Amino acid sequence: MKITAFNGSPRAKRSNTGIMVDEFLAGASKAGADTKQIYLSTKKIGSCMGCFKCWIHTPGKCIIKDDMTELLEEVITSDLIIMATPLYVDGVTGIMKHFMDRFIPLADPRFEKDENGGWRHKKRFTKYPDIMVISNCGMPGREHFQVLELHFRRMARNFHSSVIAEIYIDTGELLKNLIPLLKPVIASYKKNLRNAGVEFVESGKISDKTSKKLSKPLLEEDMFIREANKYWDKQLKSIKSEENS
Ligand SMILES: Cc1cc2nc3c(=O)[nH]c(=O)nc-3n(C[C@H](O)[C@H](O)[C@H](O)COP(=O)(O)O)c2cc1C
Repeated sequence: MKITAFNGSPRAKRSNTGIMVDEFLAGASKAGADTKQIYLSTKKIGSCMGCFKCWIHTPGKCIIKDDMTELLEEVITSDLIIMATPLYVDGVTGIMKHFMDRFIPLADPRFEKDENGGWRHKKRFTKYPDIMVISNCGMPGREHFQVLELHFRRMARNFHSSVIAEIYIDTGELLKNLIPLLKPVIASYKKNLRNAGVEFVESGKISDKTSKKLSKPLLEEDMFIREANKYWDKQLKSIKSEENS
């Protein structure tokens, strides 16, 4: 099974998204999958120009000469693609959105009805990879991922695929082990991510038990807000005293 993760965080290797992907892929690789994480912020990805040349003049190929040629090859030859992004303004990052817009050559321009009677583009390829979503956000509360969940479901439908696994964690900045007291909690969360990777490769899904563990908050909400506000107060104070000195 070929699994390719596309990380849309501008922080690339230093991202919380990357921490999550690394652990999941470590489990998947241990279970025999061929895995790779690609940091989109290190790639040259221009924005789609909306010219539709990839549909008419050069069917299936974008006329922009950048890294998307090699990236789309990775997409279409994978069994599973992981769309990994931090939550930015309730959705994907700009980097990830540019990447997603450039999927257009993978579709045929003509329309057809899906099994539920909704319109979408016809297939260009016989097989498209399944989609998994991995995301983290800054604030506490899983409701922050509502838009993202729907966005990837709609995108998958349009590309004759489906979202077959999702891992979301709020208060994602905690993954960096900033609070020593939380070390065991973070270690256990990472272990669950690795287990999810193993389970996915072995059974095609993440078990309900592991999913449940992965959706447990890392820290009680009130305590998180108290500590986070203390942190921001401190940062703001230190900048002020720097400016006054
Ligand atoms: C431009 C921007 C927009 C953000 N928007 C949200 C948001 O809508 N909701 C939220 O909970 N966190 C938001 N965050 C916080 C990030 O999701 C959070 O810092 C995350 O841990 C970053 O992950 P990364 O290290 O993988 O990039 C935002 C951060 C930035 C820089």
